[in-house]
Amino acid sequence: MWCSEMAGVDRRSTTWLPCCRLAFSLLMIASTVESTISSGTTNVALDWNMLFAQVFCASKVPAAVEPNIILAQLNLAQWHALIALNDTGYCTTQEAVVIFASHKVLASYFPFYTDILIDPLLLSQINNLQLTESQEKLGKRLGEAVAVSLIEKKRTAREFSLQAVKAALNANAGMPIPGIYRYLNNTPAGRDAQVLIFHNVAIAQPYVVPDPIDFIATYLSNLKPPAVPSQEWDQQYDLSVNAGRSDYPGRTQEMNANAAFHACGKVNNTLCTPELRWLATIYATLPQKTSLSDTVTLLAKISVAFHDALIVLTTLQYGFWFWRPEMAFKAGDPHHAPIPNWTPYLMTPPHAEYPSGTVTTEATGGTVLQTFFGGNAGPYSVGGGGVYASGCAELTGTPVIARTYSSFSDQVRDAQLARIYAGAHYNISVTDAVTVGSMVADYVEKHFTRTTPSGVLPDTGYLNVFAQTPKAAGQFNPIRFEL
Ligand SMILES: *[C@@H]1O[C@H](CO)[C@@H](O)[C@H](O)[C@H]1NC(C)=O
Ligand SMILES: *[C@@H]1O[C@H](CO)[C@@H](O)[C@H](O)[C@H]1NC(C)=O
Ligand SMILES: *[C@@H]1O[C@H](CO)[C@@H](O)[C@H](O)[C@H]1NC(C)=O
Repeated sequence: MWCSEMAGVDRRSTTWLPCCRLAFSLLMIASTVESTISSGTTNVALDWNMLFAQVFCASKVPAAVEPNIILAQLNLAQWHALIALNDTGYCTTQEAVVIFASHKVLASYFPFYTDILIDPLLLSQINNLQLTESQEKLGKRLGEAVAVSLIEKKRTAREFSLQAVKAALNANAGMPIPGIYRYLNNTPAGRDAQVLIFHNVAIAQPYVVPDPIDFIATYLSNLKPPAVPSQEWDQQYDLSVNAGRSDYPGRTQEMNANAAFHACGKVNNTLCTPELRWLATIYATLPQKTSLSDTVTLLAKISVAFHDALIVLTTLQYGFWFWRPEMAFKAGDPHHAPIPNWTPYLMTPPHAEYPSGTVTTEATGGTVLQTFFGGNAGPYSVGGGGVYASGCAELTGTPVIARTYSSFSDQVRDAQLARIYAGAHYNISVTDAVTVGSMVADYVEKHFTRTTPSGVLPDTGYLNVFAQTPKAAGQFNPIRFEL
């Protein structure tokens, strides 16, 4: 019991407890994770994030099990474990609780990798710490307890939202409205085969942001896509109709490399999503002296911000239901003749267009890091390794080259251009996405308190999901619960 009496003491500053003496002698643990990331700094918390990147990118978990949910649970488990350690004064170490919390989350989602990668990382880290048997048991007890409660609290209603979204699209299929998302292949077979993603995210529960529809009304009500037809739409049309087209004679290698880097599938590359590339940015820029507690808090904030930003973003996308360039240019509109053979450089993503999800995530990451660093940092490189997977135009099978950034904002700008060059977005959508990402990141930073992150959906009302496309482009009609 004498150990718990010391609960309020800053554990980092002393070697006063015999049982805790080893706790901080090993902040720098050699990474056992094979990855394509250039290393600036590492510690047990970052090692687990890098292992997540590796197993997630290798295991082809459908985008359906949003990587953001697992990433947020991983880093919230680490953070809650440190808080639990502070609160209980258990006689174990910060590293121990972080390790066991992380292990529990990843082992729950990636059973296939548990024997070959997840358990081995746990064992090697625990060996390095040279814990006593009691420290190990207490670390496991605390770490796993917080991890399990996070995993159990999360609920989604994805199959219900898919039905609602399909019903909304089917209702318009007979007479698609200019500016509104529609089937690319509007035949009975094409409609049946249409894959749709992210629709369930709009009804997931954020951790820090309040109800996403309220958040949008309060902070983002000035954002909307153009009406169609309108002069504003004509401008957006002109900016994307060539830049995103696969057979545009002005395409450069740099445009293609940029588009591919941010959107193509990759083989043997451990940074397959924008979120994971921001983890690599942390890896590359975090000062070596950063404490484990500060690292864990940064990781918790950035992954909660990614999670909540994706919910706000998806609420906007499936609220405006704006059409993708391929839909717009092929169909034409009152000011533009159809271009039936218009083909985007990369495949059109199967969800509504406005604003850009990639850029929202990029801006979220950039904003969290700018706040943490009190400004920009750079230059640094991220994301190389492996080769581009099939479906990546002429770059399929070629090596993924890392991109070098002079600052965090440079990394965000790179993604903005990439999404236009891919033929997936309009300029207004990548510009407004920066507002969405930075607004959510700022909100999370200001409201990140010990009590908010929870992620529990209220009750079975979540089964009554309702969706309907707007009557005209620019109107907002979000997916919601109808009680
Ligand atoms: C745990 O307590 C220490 C000492 O009071 C504090 O510096 C640290 O921020 C706390 N960690 C968390 C995650 O709250
Ligand atoms: C991926 O890596 C594995 C193991 O190193 C290798 O056998 C395989 O050929 C690589 N695949 C590609 C497409 O490079
Ligand atoms: C895209 O929009 C932004 C903001 O309105 C503007 O600064 C930028 O010049 C536009 N890009 C192009 C290529 O017109």
